[in-house]
Amino acid sequence: MQKDLAMKKITVNLEQLARSSYDICIGNDIEGEIAQLIAQSLALSAPMRAPAAVISDSNVMSIHGERFLESLHRVGINATIVPFPAGESSKNILTVTKLAESLLDLGMDRSSKIIALGGGVVGDVAGFVASIYMRGIPHIQIPTSLIAQTDSSIGGKTAVDLPQGKNLLGTFLQPAAVFIDVRFLATLPEREFSNGMAEVIKYGLLNGEEFFSYIESNIGGIMHRETSALMAVVERCCRIKKGIVEIDEKEKGSRRFLNLGHTVGHAIEAAADYQISHGEAIAIGMLAALRLSSAILQLPNSVGERVERILRTAGIPTRLPSSVDTAAIFAKLKTDKKREGNKMNFILLQDIGLPLVADNVLQGLLTAIIEDLRQ
Ligand SMILES: NC(=O)c1ccc[n+]([C@@H]2O[C@H](COP(=O)([O-])OP(=O)(O)OC[C@H]3O[C@@H](n4cnc5c(N)ncnc54)[C@H](O)[C@@H]3O)[C@@H](O)[C@H]2O)c1
Ligand SMILES: [Zn+2]
Repeated sequence: MQKDLAMKKITVNLEQLARSSYDICIGNDIEGEIAQLIAQSLALSAPMRAPAAVISDSNVMSIHGERFLESLHRVGINATIVPFPAGESSKNILTVTKLAESLLDLGMDRSSKIIALGGGVVGDVAGFVASIYMRGIPHIQIPTSLIAQTDSSIGGKTAVDLPQGKNLLGTFLQPAAVFIDVRFLATLPEREFSNGMAEVIKYGLLNGEEFFSYIESNIGGIMHRETSALMAVVERCCRIKKGIVEIDEKEKGSRRFLNLGHTVGHAIEAAADYQISHGEAIAIGMLAALRLSSAILQLPNSVGERVERILRTAGIPTRLPSSVDTAAIFAKLKTDKKREGNKMNFILLQDIGLPLVADNVLQGLLTAIIEDLRQ
């Protein structure tokens, strides 16, 4: 894997889907360049003084908002920050209507652009607002969390939650561009970084031995947030995600592989009333999927053992707390949004880099595996 720190550009090619392609730019400490690139894209599509709104959350705004806004103002962009309270609990339709009203107050019209500055919650909410405000305006993603930089900012899924469940209202709207500055990750709280690492390890398992081994042998540097390690990981994850989005934008086929660990993981999250973080839940979900794969597909046990070691170094618990009941997990599994009819789909691995969808998992086997993953 390369070690250089120059800005990288990855194009998400959607021409075959009759949709505009867009670039993902990745670098370290590139706020100035990002502002320049945004100014260029605004100049192409709208009068330079057309207002742009930076949608962000309260945490990211207080740490990074002022400096980011200054960089936009310096290149003549008429931008204002529109924040909402940080956290998944803000990812709802009320936040969407409040934001839309703020955009109206700012005079945003169909020629305006939204800039999403934040983690996955900001990206999902801002993308959703962009897809419905005045029947849709363009948006740019500037992800600041590890999950957002490696996953949620790419691919055009937008969503808000309903009281009944997560991501139940949503649209597909690809961003006009994605600008990733790994410098933002320096201020990400440790638990959030670990959460993102669970998804990074998932990418390693899906992609193949080379990237998986890279994560395994560089986990120390990644956890110390060394710039070269972050750049390498973020770039590789973006390439993997873009490759999947290009062939399966709407999750009919291979995009489903990204749900590795998520069938059981979502059920654990819901059974624990969201008191367990997403990353921690999917970590257990991945370990369950790997054990199922060993039982059904003869995946070597060593894969699960390697993943457990990496997870532990990444500060992610590898055992299910006793407070989360197996019956509650199964109750949630049965209401999974991604179920098809009566079939429960699990993403399993024949080998590292060789995922498949299985719908013939026996409940007894899964129960035994979940019980075995307890503390
Ligand atoms: N659209 C997709 O394809 C997709 C994919 C995966 C996840 N998601 C969604 O993303 C969300 C999870 O993303 P997330 O973990 O980024 O959540 P998040 O946006 O809530 O961010 C996590 C926490 O970190 C803070 N934060 C973010 N960047 C920071 C920074 N640089 N410095 C300091 N604090 C920072 C946030 O304020 C928040 O408190 C979920 O809602 C999930 O459904 C969407
Ligand atoms: Zn996830």
